[in-house]
Amino acid sequence: MNETIKTILARRSVRAYKDKPVEADKIDLLLECALAAPTGRNVQPWFFSVVNSRDLLNRISAANKQIMSESADPMAKQAASDPNFDSFRGAPLVIIVSGRRDASMAAADCANAVENMAIAACSLGLGTCYLAGFKPALLAPGGKALLKELQIPEGYDPLYGLAIGYTNEDPGERPARDRTVIAKIN
Ligand SMILES: Cc1cc2nc3c(=O)[nH]c(=O)nc-3n(C[C@H](O)[C@H](O)[C@H](O)COP(=O)(O)O)c2cc1C
Repeated sequence: MNETIKTILARRSVRAYKDKPVEADKIDLLLECALAAPTGRNVQPWFFSVVNSRDLLNRISAANKQIMSESADPMAKQAASDPNFDSFRGAPLVIIVSGRRDASMAAADCANAVENMAIAACSLGLGTCYLAGFKPALLAPGGKALLKELQIPEGYDPLYGLAIGYTNEDPGERPARDRTVIAKIN
């Protein structure tokens, strides 16, 4: 098996990280891999907020905990009751990817960038976790100040995040994948 395929198959979602910063040159390499992702008509309708501030991440997470604790969804309520609740899974670094609202394929384009970074990070010995659950606080009426702190430009919406750091857990076996979803047509 070649190294690329080994890395794709080795990537797991990591939800516990060491208290060790990610080196600046590695962050730049991950961003280069994000920008190398394909985009529909090559419009590159994305914006990357590289957040090294745990203080900002903690404030977004606290606002999410509050929103979720008041939710009618019992699963959200239960998640919010966890004393260790963290929308960013304790990572020292999170890259939030926002998509241009008027670009019809922005969601796919931004997802491509996130997955490129996740695979590249795995190849550099870093753990990652794809994130979407951090958004309620940013999309709530009071979220404008947080969007500003993230420097997300007007006309862009936060879509996905990637928690990144040095892994502090064994994520164990990959959850089983359903192979009945494949049709081979000759
Ligand atoms: C679009 C998307 C959103 C996700 N959001 C979250 C999230 O908010 N928090 C989290 O812990 N994991 C999140 N995940 C990670 C999935 O739970 C994970 O990929 C899945 O359970 C499969 O596990 P694996 O990544 O280890 O193969 C998300 C994944 C995707 C693709």
